[in-house]
Formats: sequence, C-alpha cells, structure tokens
Amino acid sequence: MTPMPPPEPGFQQLLEYLRTTRGFDFTGYKPSSLISRIGKRMHMLRIDGFPQYQDYLEVHPEEFGELFNYMLINVTSFFRDPQIWRYVAEEVVPAIAERTQERPVRIWSAGCASGEEAYTLAMLLAERLGRDAFVDNVKIYATDVDEEALAEARAAKYVRAKMDGVPEDLGARYFEPVGNGHQFVFDKELRRSVIFGRHNLVADAPISRIDLLACRNTLMYLNAETQAHVLNNFHFALNGDGYLLLGKAEMLFTKEKSFLAVDLKRRIFRKVPGDAARARLWLTPLLDQAGATLGTMADSLLFDATPLAQLILNPGGILVGANPQARAMFQIQPADIGRSIHELQPAYRPVDLVLPLQQVIDERASVHISDIFFAGGPPQITHISVDLAPLVDDRATVIGILISYTDLSRLKKLEEDVQTISQELETTNQELQSTNEELETTNQELQSTNEELETTNQELQSTNEELEMMNEELESTNDELQAVNDEARRRAGELDEAHLFLQSVMSGLGSAVVVIDKDCRITMWSTAAEEMWGLRSAEARGEALERLDIGLPVEELMPSIRRVLASESPREQTTLQATNRRGKGIRCAVSMGPLGSDHRVLGAILLMEVQDHLP
Ligand SMILES: C[S@@+](CC[C@H](N)C(=O)[O-])C[C@H]1O[C@@H](n2cnc3c(N)ncnc32)[C@H](O)[C@@H]1O
Repeated sequence: MTPMPPPEPGFQQLLEYLRTTRGFDFTGYKPSSLISRIGKRMHMLRIDGFPQYQDYLEVHPEEFGELFNYMLINVTSFFRDPQIWRYVAEEVVPAIAERTQERPVRIWSAGCASGEEAYTLAMLLAERLGRDAFVDNVKIYATDVDEEALAEARAAKYVRAKMDGVPEDLGARYFEPVGNGHQFVFDKELRRSVIFGRHNLVADAPISRIDLLACRNTLMYLNAETQAHVLNNFHFALNGDGYLLLGKAEMLFTKEKSFLAVDLKRRIFRKVPGDAARARLWLTPLLDQAGATLGTMADSLLFDATPLAQLILNPGGILVGANPQARAMFQIQPADIGRSIHELQPAYRPVDLVLPLQQVIDERASVHISDIFFAGGPPQITHISVDLAPLVDDRATVIGILISYTDLSRLKKLEEDVQTISQELETTNQELQSTNEELETTNQELQSTNEELETTNQELQSTNEELEMMNEELESTNDELQAVNDEARRRAGELDEAHLFLQSVMSGLGSAVVVIDKDCRITMWSTAAEEMWGLRSAEARGEALERLDIGLPVEELMPSIRRVLASESPREQTTLQATNRRGKGIRCAVSMGPLGSDHRVLGAILLMEVQDHLP
C-alpha cells in the first residue's frame, strides 16, 4: 500500500471546520489530493499553513466557493475515453434500449460535473432508440455535489473547444450553434429527459431502480472505506440486471463481490443480484482433483502398482487386501489381513469410515470423501481424500469394497501457494490500483491547472490586445502631437522673427516705448525705457502704470491716456518735467497713441523721449 503521507499540521482541523461550518464532509476523501488542491489555492493567496488558511476563511467567507472549486475537480468532456464509449454504444446501450419495450429506463450519471457525460449518454440512447422513443422512455438523472457545475450543466451551453470529443454527425444532430457560432447548446427536447440535481454520493441516499449507473472519475477521490460505502449504495441503486460504469483508472476493490466484470479493461460491471457474499468477482483457482476410483481390481499387480494407497474389504468388513502404499500409510502388518476393519486404524483415522462403508453396501454406490487433514499420518502426508467403491461380480453381487486413499498433500501445498500468490497479487493489484487512481487524480489536477492556465493565458492575451490597441492609439496621438509640435515650432520661429523685428524697430525709434492694456497695466517695457527710468522690464510688466515708482509724474499723463483709450483722441502729446534713473532733471516728451485693430482699442502705446536736460 502507498505509505501514508506525514500528517499536515492543521489539515484535519480544516476539514473539521468545513464540516461544521459548511456541512461538507471531506474526511472520506484521499488526503493527498485534497492537500495538493488546497495547497494550490493557499499558494495563490500566499498563505503558508492550513491554520492560517482557516483564519483567512473565517474572515473571508466568500473564499469557501473558491476553495470548493479547487477541491472538487470538475474536469470532464464529451465522450471522455472514446474507446470505452464505443464499447458502451455497441454492447451496453442496445441491451438497455431493449428494456424500453417493457418499462421506462432509468440512468444515473453520478458526479456529472458540467453535464457532458449525461449528454453523451443521452446522445447514445437517442441514436439507438430514435428521438421520440428516447424522450418517451428514458430518464437520465445527473447529479453532483457542486452547485456551480450543475448550473453549467443545466444551461447545456458549451464553447467550441469543449465540443472536440463530439463526433461531427452527432454534433450536427444534437447541438445548435449560438452566439455567432462560438457556443453550442444541447438539443432542447432531449434535455427535458435529463434531470440535474445536487446529490452527495457520500452522505445522501442513492437513487433507485437504475439500469445504467455511470460514476466515472469520482470514486477515485475517495478513500477505500468511503468507496466501499458508495459502492454498496450503488448495489442498492441498480436493478437486478443493472450496469455500473466506472472511470478508466477506477476498479472495484477485490473484496467487493457485489459486481461482476462485464469488461474489466473498460471498467464495465454488472450487479450481482441478491446476497453479495455469494458472488465472486475474482475466480478462486479450481482445485478439482481427479476422482481416482479404480473400477475393478483386475489383478493384484495393478493393485500394487497404483500410486494410491488401497485396501480391500469383503462385504463383512474383513480386510482382505492392502497394497504396499496402504500398508505403509497405516502400518498394516500381514497379521492384520483377516481382521475386521473396525479393529484397525483406517476405520477411524484420518476419517471415520463406519457410515460411508455402510452407505456403499446399502446403496451399491461409490462414496467420495474429499480433502481430509491427516493428523498423525506419515510425515509427508498432510491431506488426503478417500474413495469407497463397491466391487461387484458378473451377477451384480457386492463381493467387496475397495478403499482408495489419494495423497492431496502436494496439491494442497500447491493450493496454499496459489492462495498466497493470489493474495500477494491481490495486494499488488490494490497497490497498482491505488497508484493508478493517484496518477489519474494528478492527471486531472494537471488538466484543471492547464485549463486555469489557459484561461489566464486568454486573459493575458486579451489584456495584451488591449495594450496593443492603446499603444496604437498612443502612437497616433503621438503623431498628431508631433504635427502640432512642428507647427508650434514653426510659429515660435515666426514669433522670434517678429520679436526681433519689433526689438529692432523699437531700438531704431530711439525713444522709450511702453505699451499698456485697457486697464493701464504694462504689457511691454522697452530696453530704452529700462535705461531711462531704471526699472527692469520684468519688474514693470503686469504693474499698473499709475503705481510705478519712477521719476515720471505718471498721474499727469493719465487724463491723456484715458482719452486715447476711450477713442476720444487719436493721439496725445505732452511734455513733462521728470527725473531720470541717474536722478537728473529732464524734460520728457511723451506721445500716446492707441493700440488696436479694426477700430477696437486694446490699449495704448506711449513713446517717451528726453527733450533736454534741466540744469
Ligand atoms: C472529475 S469530475 C468527473 C466528471 C465526469 N463523471 C467524467 O468522468 O468526466 C468529478 C466530479 O465529482 C464530483 N464530486 C466530488 N465529490 C462528490 C460527492 N461526494 N458527491 C457527488 N459528486 C461529487 C465533483 O464535483 C466533480 O464534478
């Protein structure tokens, strides 16, 4: 047997917690598979131990759903293991279809996951019976413990990839494409004969009067004891002539006598009706020894030459002959010839011959006493059988009785050896079985991981596609920005040129130039103005003209400026006494004109020039 894995701290407590809080008892499942599946979930959540995971479950009840998804592996497909379904279609379905002549047929797909197995059965039966007869006469009960899987099964909608196992003609007959042909839905009419329901194989009572029970790739998750319990329920569930279909890695344990293999390789069994103990799944070797009755003792040579130990009695029970083998076996002396058999050892040992002798005489028929343990006999002889035969003459009168002893010791030893070997074989078989199931479980786990990876891959692919789209959009925005940028650069060049032009115009003017907006805030302050008033352009820009602290009495200019801004005058000129940046008195001529276009006044331009220096 596979050695028990070392106990995982907190694992049993977690199972107990699931039992008490969620009513789901996983204690009948093989721990190795559970540990690996829960471990996978814990790894995803970066949780290190079972106790920590239990804490997590207590705080996040929504995690139970995820956990059950991991624990109950839902891997399945249509016509899974096609060679088995071919056999079922050819050998089992016709036999079952026949029964619909007398009564409705009931089928049970136990552990049906997302329903592919139940619909596979429906297709096979419908193919055999025809659509109408199927609908009228067949009920398929499809059960699982996993509600989510059952919801999928009821919807009966499968993506294209899931349809791989369905033969093309059946796909065309029993499925309808939906959603732009990306999905296929199972025939609505046939679906009415498939009844889905939640059923726990370990805890719930079985469905009864079943003709064909398919429970594939589900038992192998359970430990041997729980498997035996479920099989017992299956025995009850099946009609006397019912079939049981298991998964390709699953086997009835050799102790199980309630089912006979119809085809062991394909895991198809028949119920053995009635008392299970009478049935035999495994043949015990038949140790039938040859009945060794000497017909008549034609001559004493033959009597002596036989390998059997033989005695001859007359009808009165007197020993009249003993061959050397019998003499050695019972230490018969020559003097014993002529004595009554009742006085001699063979009458009582190894078996009491009194009644059998009487029977031979009364009935004139042979008596066979098989397989006797020869206690206290010759050391090499442990088991014998005894044959008593009447010796009759030509007139059918009993003239004697021949007692023949057959040494069964070698045969017995062989039988014991065979039994030991057969037990060893049985153990090896169980080990193989268990390894096989573990392999299949691992296989299914891998398949489920693969499916998860495929989903993640698809998600990644779609994220990738989105990213690529975004990238393309960004690239096109980038192109547009580049064009805008080029335009901006061109404009900036033009602006620089205009600026340069303006600068040269202004320096060409020789006057200080100041531009103000409609609110009299300075928007331009030329280099000559800097020179004249000792205020830098950066300090002047944005300031209100009236507030400037320079040597020019600006307030005296304001009435003229307002007239220009109000378009009351096209140009104003005045001369003021002022103080330049060096503190020298000057006479300053100021001329003011409007700034604007299309008769709109946006501000004013002030030109200031030193007329003369005051003494
Ligand atoms: C690997 S799937 C097998 C599906 C299908 N029979 C096949 O062979 O393709 C095993 C199914 O058994 C179900 N299962 C596990 N424990 C169960 C229980 N105690 N009672 C009923 N179904 C159970 C799981 O939910 C899962 O859907």
